[in-house]
Amino acid sequence: MLGLAEITGEDRVDFAKQAIRRQPFSQRGERGGRDRAAAWRAAVGAAAQDRRGQLHHAHAEAFHRERRDRIADARAGNLALDRQNSLGAAKSVAHGPRWSPAPPLRARVMNVRPRRSCLYMPGANAKALEKAKSLAADVLLLDLEDSVAPEAKAEARAQVAAAVKARGYGKREVIVRVNALATPWGREDIAAACAAAPEGVLAPKVESAAQVKELDEALSAANLSKDAALWVMIETPRAIFNLAEIAAAARGTRLAAFVLGLNDLAKETRARPGPSRAAFQTALSLTVAAARAEGLTAIDGVYNDIADSAGFETECKQGLEFGFDGKTLIHPSQIEACNTVFAPAEEEVARARAIIAAFALSENAGKGVIKVDGRMTELLHLEEARRVVAVAEAIAAMR
Ligand code: COA
Ligand code: MG
Repeated sequence: MLGLAEITGEDRVDFAKQAIRRQPFSQRGERGGRDRAAAWRAAVGAAAQDRRGQLHHAHAEAFHRERRDRIADARAGNLALDRQNSLGAAKSVAHGPRWSPAPPLRARVMNVRPRRSCLYMPGANAKALEKAKSLAADVLLLDLEDSVAPEAKAEARAQVAAAVKARGYGKREVIVRVNALATPWGREDIAAACAAAPEGVLAPKVESAAQVKELDEALSAANLSKDAALWVMIETPRAIFNLAEIAAAARGTRLAAFVLGLNDLAKETRARPGPSRAAFQTALSLTVAAARAEGLTAIDGVYNDIADSAGFETECKQGLEFGFDGKTLIHPSQIEACNTVFAPAEEEVARARAIIAAFALSENAGKGVIKVDGRMTELLHLEEARRVVAVAEAIAAMR
C-alpha cells in the first residue's frame, strides 16, 4: 500500500477520506470527532499547506487550473463537489476539529454513467426479468418491495437473486430494491441480494442519516462489495424534512443516489398532484439540491398512466428542468422517450465541444472568460461543457 508521503495533493485527501470510511461507524461518531479531525489534519496537512498560498493570493486562478486538469481526467464530473473539497481542505486548517469532512471519493469522483431510464420490474414477474435483457433502460430496478405481494416475497427474492447472479443484463446497471429493514423481509432480502452481487441495493422509505448508516452496515455485514452502491428512496414527509442529513450520510457510506417515490409521498401527504405536479415541486427541487450538495445521483418518480405518452414526455422534461439525472419507469414503452429527454441534445453537445475547442486555443490560454459564438463564456461553462461531452460519450458507449 502507498504511504502517505507518496501521495500528493488532493489524492492525499482522498486517501484520508477512504481511510476514515473504512472505520466502523462506531468510531466515526461525534465522540470520535476529535481523533478523526487530528488524523485528518495529519493526512491532509501537507496538501493544505501547499494550498495556503493559493488561497491567499491566487485562489481563483489555481482553483480553475486544478479543475481543468481534473475534468480532463474525465473521472470528475461534479465540480461543485470539487470546489467544496478544495475549500474544505482549507477550512480544516482554519477551524481545526470543527471542520466537517467533504464527501468521500465515491461522491466526489462522480462518474457520468447514464442513469436516464431506471425501469422497475416486479421481482415476482419472471417474464419481466427476462424481457429486461433486451430493453434499452440504463438501470434495472429489480423490485422486492411495493410491487411484490407478501405471499410472493420469498419466491421473488430467489428469482431476483438468480437473475442477478446469471449476469445477463449487459451494460445495464442492476439494482435490487429490498424491503425496509423494519419489515419481516428486509434482512433476508439484503442477504440474498448481496450474495448475488448487484451493482447496488435500493432501500425504501429512508428518513434519516441513522437509517442510511444502519443500511450501509447491513450491506457490509452481508459482504456487499465496497464498489457496490446504496440507493435510497425519498418517499415520506419526514424524508423531505431530513433531506440534507440523509444526503450528508453519503460522507461515510456507500450512499450514491436518491430515488423519489412519489406514489408513496402522495399517499402520505394526501397530495393530489396534477399534470404540473405543483404539489411536489418543493420536494422535487429540495431532493435535487440535497443530492447535488453531496454528489449524489437524483432520479425522479414514476408516471403511472402508461398509455399517456404525451403526458409522460412532458413530465420527463419537467424532471430534466429540475435537474434530475433520470426518471424511474414502470413500463418498457416509457424507455425511449425518457432516454431521449435525459440525453444531452445534439446541439448541446456541439456547443459544448465548441466551448472546449475555444478554450483550448493558444490565444485563450489562461483566460477566465471568452466569447464563443457571440456569448460570454466563462470557465464554469467550460466545466459544464466537459461534463456534457462526458455524458454524451458515456451514453454512446451504452449502445
Ligand atoms: N419491466 C420489464 N418488462 C415489462 C415491464 C417492466 N416493468 N412491464 C411490462 N413488461 C413487459 C410484459 O411482461 C410484456 O412482455 P411480453 O411482450 O414479452 O409479453 C410487455 O412488457 C408488455 O406488457 P403489458 O402487457 O403492456 O403490461 P402488463 O399488463 O403485463 O403489465 C404492469 C403492466 C403495470 C403490471 C407492469 O408494467 C409492471 O409491473 N410494471 C412495473 C411495476 C413496478 O415495478 N412497480 C414498483 C415501482 S412503482
Ligand atoms: Mg414506495
